[in-house]
Amino acid sequence: MGVIFDLDGVIVDTAKYHFQAWKRLANELGFDFDETQNEQLKGVSRYDSLNLILGWGGVTQTEEQKQAWMVTKNDWYLGLISEMNESEILPGVHSFLDELNAAQIPVGLGSASKNSKRILEQIGLTSYFQSIVDGNRVVKGKPNPETFLTGARELNLAPSECIVFEDAPKGVKAAKAGGFMAIGIGSSRNLSNADYILKGFENIRWRTIQRLFRNYKIKDEKFSTSFNY
Ligand code: BG6
Ligand code: MG
Repeated sequence: MGVIFDLDGVIVDTAKYHFQAWKRLANELGFDFDETQNEQLKGVSRYDSLNLILGWGGVTQTEEQKQAWMVTKNDWYLGLISEMNESEILPGVHSFLDELNAAQIPVGLGSASKNSKRILEQIGLTSYFQSIVDGNRVVKGKPNPETFLTGARELNLAPSECIVFEDAPKGVKAAKAGGFMAIGIGSSRNLSNADYILKGFENIRWRTIQRLFRNYKIKDEKFSTSFNY
């Protein structure tokens, strides 16, 4: 079996930087949006995020202008994360990855971000991942399952053999659509579609996750048995 991690909000808290950069763009265009709206941008590609934000501001523009705004936003974002280092890895993630490594569990990254590789390098975690599927590699972003299905294929595993860790409702939706067990990272308030929810990785051991996976399989089997008869 194997695991696939989302990046933003699971390994590092970059949502606050994305928020700042998008907010700056919106403000320059003469409107604002709040943190509740920002929740809707989690797991969503840069292009789709821009369209959502422009919709909130009632702004319509040419594709060319949108491309230029995306470049501007990303430059600001890169400025905000330029100093990012391993101190920004969320609590417990590093030791959990060490444990997976020691147990020789295949590990993949499944992120919408086109900056994934840069961020993994900056925080020193690249070598933990045998597969990296990011926003540069997929046609259909989350909630489409393509990101995770590509990752599972690269790890030589079936979706039913993989666990996905996700903080975004759209990411959980993508995992479930692909036939994966999905563990939500965050609060049950917005992750009700996940199979299990963890606050984060602090004090989380691989054997705990394996137990959750076994329970999930039993539930799954019960469901298909009752479904068949
Ligand atoms: C996701 C974030 O991981 O990546 C989104 O949750 C972000 O907020 C998306 O828009 C794309 O990121 P980037 O780095 O390619 O602009
Ligand atoms: Mg995320």
